[in-house]
Amino acid sequence: MQMKKVLMVVGSLRQDSFNRTVAQTIATQLEEQGVTVNFATIADLPLMNQDFEFPVPAAVQRFRDQVQAADGLWIVTPEYNEMIPGGLKNALDWLSRPVTPGTFGSPEFLQGKPVMLTGAGGKKAAKVGLSHLKTLLIDLHGSDAPGPRGGVADPNPSLHDGEVRPITGTTNGGRSTSCGVALRFRRN
Ligand SMILES: Cc1cc2nc3c(=O)[nH]c(=O)nc-3n(C[C@H](O)[C@H](O)[C@H](O)COP(=O)(O)O)c2cc1C
Repeated sequence: MQMKKVLMVVGSLRQDSFNRTVAQTIATQLEEQGVTVNFATIADLPLMNQDFEFPVPAAVQRFRDQVQAADGLWIVTPEYNEMIPGGLKNALDWLSRPVTPGTFGSPEFLQGKPVMLTGAGGKKAAKVGLSHLKTLLIDLHGSDAPGPRGGVADPNPSLHDGEVRPITGTTNGGRSTSCGVALRFRRN
């Protein structure tokens, strides 16, 4: 199945985020290829608290609905102290939980969803944070799902003098290739 609907998840919450700029650039390229792109709202998610899981707060339900409606996710995030930002971790924690009490097992929201990863930040382009994110996503996907291994981390944008530039030697061509690879990605 080709991806028709992609949900962009930006790990930075700040208004002038470079990662948001990168996500918007990717979104434009995806839209040019006929893909519907939506942006997730994670800034208003309450902190994960098991006291408020059944039912979850409205903002969490909205986010889960956005994820369920998408064929795949594209996470664009900086790293904070070589980890993923707390807001993104919180969002993924909400996705990792069962919908009804006691139905533990494979998480339902990310199961089988391809997830592409891109990061902007510092010389290493959030490489360490993305590596943690990969580990987390593999865990959330369960063993039989394609997981982020089918995704792409290119073009690995970085920050130079306040501007976002790719550091991999590939420029827009790389990003287009990434989009193409991502869109051709099929679920198992
Ligand atoms: C709490 C915090 C921790 C950070 N830690 C790192 C880091 O470990 N590595 C890095 O390259 N940049 C780090 N940065 C710098 C961010 O990469 C930079 O602020 C970037 O612009 C954030 O992304 P944004 O523009 O999308 O908000 C950190 C920034 C903050 C606020």
